Amino acid sequence: MKLRLRWFYLMFCVTTTLVSSAVAQKQAEQAAQEPETHARPLGTEFGYSIYEQTCTSCHGNPASETHAPDPAALRQMTPEAIYDALTTGSMAAIIGPKLTDEQKRRVAGL
Ligand code: HEC
Repeated sequence: MKLRLRWFYLMFCVTTTLVSSAVAQKQAEQAAQEPETHARPLGTEFGYSIYEQTCTSCHGNPASETHAPDPAALRQMTPEAIYDALTTGSMAAIIGPKLTDEQKRRVAGL
């Protein structure tokens, strides 16, 4: 009887350890997959992915009829000037409603 109880206790410990480590691993995986909208500094790869999705149809697209300045020209601009173009300048009408203020800051590199 005593031996059985010890066996039961041992199995209980093993199971709890396994389950809790599986849960911890799952949580770590989920954390790694979540988009880090605020954790990253502004103007990093996240800004570039916005640029790729929202701007390259005109900027840097030889097939575009819009005569948008090419990316090299945009890179000469300060982040503030790009942000101003997106919020109050010539891009405001095109981009204004498509991006949030946070996204405009990121794509501008602010
Ligand atoms: C539908 C085409 C189109 C898209 C999409 C577009 N642009 Fe433009 N962009 C233009 C054109 C055309 C100009 C030139 C307009 C002008 O100078 O009046 C321009 C000019 C600019 C300028 C220079 C403005 C200035 O005052 O000199 C910046 C900066 C800019 N775009 C940034 C962006 C960014 C960043 C994105 C994406 C978030 C973007 N644009 C998306 C067409 C586009």
